[in-house]
Amino acid sequence: MKCRVCRGAAVIDVPRHNANFCEAHFLDHCREQVRRAISHWKMLDPGDRVLVAVSGGKDSLALWDILLDLGYDVEGLYLGLGIGEYSDESGVYARDFAAARGLKLREVDLRDDYGFDVPGAAKATRRVPCSACGLSKRHLFDSAALDDGFDAVATGHNLDDEAAVLFGNVLHWDADYLGRQQPVLPARPGFPKKVKPLVRLAERETAAWCVLRRIDYQVEECPMAAGNSHLGYKEALNVIERESPGTKAHFYFAFLDRIAPRFDQTEAKDALRECTSCGAPTTGDVCAFCKLVERATRPGARDVPVRIEIR
Ligand code: AMP
Ligand code: FES
Ligand code: ZN
Ligand code: ZN
Repeated sequence: MKCRVCRGAAVIDVPRHNANFCEAHFLDHCREQVRRAISHWKMLDPGDRVLVAVSGGKDSLALWDILLDLGYDVEGLYLGLGIGEYSDESGVYARDFAAARGLKLREVDLRDDYGFDVPGAAKATRRVPCSACGLSKRHLFDSAALDDGFDAVATGHNLDDEAAVLFGNVLHWDADYLGRQQPVLPARPGFPKKVKPLVRLAERETAAWCVLRRIDYQVEECPMAAGNSHLGYKEALNVIERESPGTKAHFYFAFLDRIAPRFDQTEAKDALRECTSCGAPTTGDVCAFCKLVERATRPGARDVPVRIEIR
């Protein structure tokens, strides 16, 4: 196996590009894919201050590393979700990465700062954990970026993530989500710009980036996500991709180029006002995050309902 660029010994193949790369040229390939994504979708301008949401996993740590390499002014934000050992360990990977490089990592902890955690919120709301988790992430990423005047929030969603979300949205013909599934969402009043610079890189490539750059990361998946449909969609697409490399990228990029513009891409038109509790944009009086905090911290919120067996 020879490197496509220098004909030296290759360390990795990227079947989607019908290419093999040596270590140095693989790292160049990753930087180039991120640079192209940023430029094609006009995600960032040179000199932008970027807040990277870092989970301690391979994607967001690779993203932080690559954005620094490309010369952006980047700080990290880690959100402690309180999902047992998984969260404790993830925080250590994020902190170690930042400390080893003298980078600034901001931290918000759901338990310390808001008095609840994701498993507790799931019980209190009787919904799947990912719903309280996603809501908290969106709200806290936005407020952290706006409070400190960042130009954009960057997340580590990669090609596999985006293709799987698209697959789910197509299976459900979810027109609202299909219209808004974009790698960049522009800033609007009360919301920062949101960008996904890794959409041109597959999961396997971000993992290889971390291995080659000696970045330790959380390899476990979130235990609360086990068995969810998103993971099933990823597996299904992987089966197809193995048979015909490139299908996944074509599915996603052709959607963005040709199909997404046919859907209504504007945000919901309901008038937004400020949450009376935290000031975030909301259609009602109190925003969804403040309602979640109230429910999840109510006395007895975590108590499991008593089941009475009648024989
Ligand atoms: P997920 O929703 O877990 O697939 O994560 C998607 C992206 O959200 C990651 O690549 C990170 O950029 C960000 N993210 C997920 N979990 C956290 C966390 N606990 N703290 C900060 N950012 C996170
Ligand atoms: Fe949000 Fe697992 S990371 S529920
Ligand atoms: Zn090479
Ligand atoms: Zn609020």
